[in-house]
Amino acid sequence: MLNSAEYLKNLFGMEGEVAVVIGGAGELGGALAAGLGQAGAHIVVADMSEEACKTRVEKLKTLHVNSSYAVVNITQRNSIQNLLKESLNITGKVDMLVNCAGINAGNSFLEVDPNQWDKIFAVNLKGMMETCQVFIESMLANNEGGSILNIGSVNSDRPLSHVFAYAASKAGVVNLTQNIAQEFATKKIRVNSICPGFFPAEQNRQLLNAERIDHIMRGTPMRRYGTPEELIGAALLLLSKKAGSYMTGAAVYVDGGFTCSWF
Ligand SMILES: NC(=O)c1ccc[n+]([C@@H]2O[C@H](COP(=O)([O-])OP(=O)(O)OC[C@H]3O[C@@H](n4cnc5c(N)ncnc54)[C@H](O)[C@@H]3O)[C@@H](O)[C@H]2O)c1
Repeated sequence: MLNSAEYLKNLFGMEGEVAVVIGGAGELGGALAAGLGQAGAHIVVADMSEEACKTRVEKLKTLHVNSSYAVVNITQRNSIQNLLKESLNITGKVDMLVNCAGINAGNSFLEVDPNQWDKIFAVNLKGMMETCQVFIESMLANNEGGSILNIGSVNSDRPLSHVFAYAASKAGVVNLTQNIAQEFATKKIRVNSICPGFFPAEQNRQLLNAERIDHIMRGTPMRRYGTPEELIGAALLLLSKKAGSYMTGAAVYVDGGFTCSWF
């Protein structure tokens, strides 16, 4: 008979597992790294800047999370391959991959710059596709398989105005996640997505003018932003070998009710 702490550890615990969190130096990635790390996983913080990665690792230390870091640019295949190599050096396997890198830009439709469109897609969708390819190849060699969490957005469900490339790329994230999920469902590899609502962070703060904030608050039944820590429960569920064992291809909206509301 397990006591409640043992029961929860058995269901959600991640001791002995390695989680690579791409975008781990960012706001949402940082919270997810802290959550998975406190559940017992070794975290590889993977992001563009060495300084930002180091800062995240220092923050994780204060939570007693085991972590290391690797600099990566997911728009370059060889950089993703190096990240995999460095991650495998830790225990010889990667159990979990979190794709939390993302960029955004706001324009009216006629002002959308095709080069900017390509840049956003290169990170938000193509980069994600390539990290999945590179890490799944390695997970297939691991007897226990692996689990991937891709970060979408409420834009995956409906297009928010003035973020054309971002919204289209995030719609692609859910579709891509479902498609990879079905291909590997019998191979012990699960692929799911979390679609966050509004969590003010570096990549979207400049887009939040007074009019937009008003729309967001009116469209969010809970009438508030999310805090990054509010993503952790869904991430633990989807990534955990035990709690999430029958979940693949799911898109879990953590959005204060935004996508259920048509006011
Ligand atoms: N904050 C929100 O309200 C919100 C809502 C929905 C979805 N999201 C998504 O959540 C994810 C994290 O966003 P955030 O709000 O924490 O933003 P953030 O800017 O704090 O974090 C994004 C991270 O991605 C990294 N990154 C960017 N390009 C990269 C590249 N080429 N290679 C590797 N890393 C790269 C950045 O350096 C940064 O650390 C993004 O995919 C974003 O689209 C955020």
